[in-house]
Amino acid sequence: MIKWHIEKSPNEVAVKAAMIYRQQIMDKPQSVLGFATGSTPELFYRELIMLYQDRQLSFKECKSFNLDEYCGLNPSHRQSYHYYMEEKLFKHVDFDDGHIYLPHGNVDDYHRECKRYDALLIEHGPIDIQLLGIGRNGHIGFNEPNDVLIPSTHVVHLDDKTIKDNARFFSCEDLVPKSAITMGLKTIQQSNKILLLATGPEKAEILKALRSEKISTQLPASFLHLHADVTIICDESAAKHF
Ligand code: PGA
Repeated sequence: MIKWHIEKSPNEVAVKAAMIYRQQIMDKPQSVLGFATGSTPELFYRELIMLYQDRQLSFKECKSFNLDEYCGLNPSHRQSYHYYMEEKLFKHVDFDDGHIYLPHGNVDDYHRECKRYDALLIEHGPIDIQLLGIGRNGHIGFNEPNDVLIPSTHVVHLDDKTIKDNARFFSCEDLVPKSAITMGLKTIQQSNKILLLATGPEKAEILKALRSEKISTQLPASFLHLHADVTIICDESAAKHF
């Protein structure tokens, strides 16, 4: 059963989400935290940094896992998700560098990298709380709509819609990588809790589809209906079709 919360603004979504993460860390300082990238969580990371600076939380004993990474980008590439996480969160707080895990996008053998990441998730997991955004096409992580979905970490060819949506982060659409490594739906579903954030009117259509409680591989986020502890926090503009 998905719990839905509608907040007035993206800022209030971020504050509520940060409070949930704070509570998680207070309850279990060694929490395994799942993080996501994209525009939506940026305000959430800002809130976490403020709570940290205010000494209201510490990540010292936590571990972190990210959902995905573009194929072909070095960690130092400004559009890589390694770089994003470093800039938006990690360099501002007290995570132990050895406790931070992301899939590597700049490897020769992607098959081996997927296996390595899954082994790390088994070794350190399950994830206590996984943050998600949602694509306009219903993807979570980079699990794109398809006839079939792959449960474990895998390489995925990005949807045209995703490439277009993510082009805003690159100087031109041609530079957006065409593939990525993503956690699969099984790993996401194995998280103890899931927190999905969605803000802005461009997410209104897909959230309306997700509310219908039908499960389809063409709407990967719909598999969240099978999980026992999912919270979705959205702002009023994303909820305008409810
Ligand atoms: P966005 O991406 O936050 O940039 O809209 C969400 C997602 O694709 O998961």
